[in-house]
Amino acid sequence: MVREFEGKIKLVIKFFPYRYRDYARIAAEAAVEAWKQGKFAQMHELLIKGSPRLDRESLIGYAKELNLDLEKFIKAIDNQEGASIIERDLKLAKDLDLYVTPAFYINGIKVLGVRDYDYFKEIILKELQNVKKSNIIFIVSVFLIIFALVNIEGFASDKEKKKLEPLPLPPIPKDNPMTQEKVELGKKLFFDRRLSGDGTTSCASCHDPEKAFTDASEISLSYPTTRNLRNAPTLLNVAYAKYLFWDGRAKTLEEQAEFPIMSAFEMNQNLEFLEEEIRVVPEYREAFKKVFGQEVNIKLIAKAIAAFERTLISKNAPIDRFLRGDKNALSEEAKKGLEIFKGKGKCIECHYGAYLSDHEFHALMVPENPKYVNEDKFITTRRYVAKINKYPDYMNVKEDLGRYFKTKKKQDYKAFKTPTLREVAKTAPYMHNGIFKSLDEVIEFFNKGGGEGNRVLKPLNLTEDEKKALKTFLVEALTGEDLQIKPPEIP
Ligand code: HEC
Ligand code: HEC
Repeated sequence: MVREFEGKIKLVIKFFPYRYRDYARIAAEAAVEAWKQGKFAQMHELLIKGSPRLDRESLIGYAKELNLDLEKFIKAIDNQEGASIIERDLKLAKDLDLYVTPAFYINGIKVLGVRDYDYFKEIILKELQNVKKSNIIFIVSVFLIIFALVNIEGFASDKEKKKLEPLPLPPIPKDNPMTQEKVELGKKLFFDRRLSGDGTTSCASCHDPEKAFTDASEISLSYPTTRNLRNAPTLLNVAYAKYLFWDGRAKTLEEQAEFPIMSAFEMNQNLEFLEEEIRVVPEYREAFKKVFGQEVNIKLIAKAIAAFERTLISKNAPIDRFLRGDKNALSEEAKKGLEIFKGKGKCIECHYGAYLSDHEFHALMVPENPKYVNEDKFITTRRYVAKINKYPDYMNVKEDLGRYFKTKKKQDYKAFKTPTLREVAKTAPYMHNGIFKSLDEVIEFFNKGGGEGNRVLKPLNLTEDEKKALKTFLVEALTGEDLQIKPPEIP
């Protein structure tokens, strides 16, 4: 039976005879063992290569590599049959032109790596809920994972909220599938200064790959002669955000991209004009034809940029290795910090899940940034933002009211989005207005119970050692390897 998930991922699902269960279990155990030892690459290998073949030699090979109890392993294998059936399944898969491995293809892009695993897990768990118990489904190679899950976690434990999770594959919207060519096109547009009215500014000006996709300013850069209102958030892992902007006024990256292009104090570009500017460049015209089969238009520009942004994902962060079972991925100090993060510090109340955010808005009453609060250009922008949000008394607004500008709901008064904490060591200064220069200042802010008049935080009474450990956790655990993103050649 061939199943399609989200129209993008194809798996071959087989009703596998129950008597081969033990066979599956052996391979699964090997994978689990690899997982426990933090040997993710090997586990992946085992699941990819070992399982569809399941021939004696390769399984033993993997067992050796993984230092498993060989005698037990070989004996177990020799007591089983089944290779022929698996070969038949493989042939079926081949005939159907499907790749039956946990490294699956999304629109022709092979997605490999540890991240797959969680995404897969999600899909499979969902799938399992639809299956009657008596009708156990096995997936040619993936059935191994099912066993791994049963053995380790059981099916139910995924329900708990408020825990940290390793990064899964990012969600990809149905109407904007990822392809290599689209990502390349989006990357060019991201770095292209044509997107700004005066040709000085690209997205990368304020989301600079060298600065973890921020501009490292308290209040972000702006269109010449104007002032921005807020701090530029990192775009690393933005694919996982449910709301965009500090006030959550956009929900998709496709929607978001038009805002800075149009914004009077960011790129100040006219969208109709931009379409023509891009259209007139032969390389772009060709690329749009190839990628979308259509002429250049602003929606497609946004789609390409969004596809590029979805590739900006933390690589191999210690927290992910740790959460997947590698207990040595964090130092003792960072582990202590993690306990404070989850316990006494109560950070996990709002910073949880894979994105380390509840995707909610809270009024922590972060003070206004004194450098800017009374500056004319800043006041201009603040009023303008209030005005275009139809805030009645926009002339007299003295503070950034956050989500309240948009919703006018009491609970949103001065509320801002809980930002991700991934890569936070690289994204100073902090908060929506960049008021804190260091993580020490942020931790002190939370330790004191937040800003004046807030109703969400209480003093924490952390000792100096506890603060230090908490910081170590933030810096050490949440920082992935640097992404090597080089500015492309702009046509
Ligand atoms: C002049 C500086 C500047 C430029 C240019 C700029 N941005 Fe931003 N970006 C910001 C600021 C400031 C914010 C936060 C604004 C807010 O929340 O109100 C932001 C927010 C974002 C967010 C939301 C992130 C989150 O976690 O909520 C995304 C996505 C984003 N920008 C993408 C882009 C793209 C794509 C471009 C180019 C089309 C771009 N930006 C151009 C300054 C800039
Ligand atoms: C009640 C929810 C809540 C709790 C609890 C909480 N945070 Fe936050 N955190 C937020 C919000 C909301 C912001 C953004 C506030 C703003 O800019 O006005 C934020 C901002 C941050 C930032 C700045 C990130 C950036 O990119 O600017 C850091 C760092 C941070 N929090 C760490 C922590 C730590 C450490 C703890 C525990 C001691 C903690 N948070 C507890 C909601 C929370």
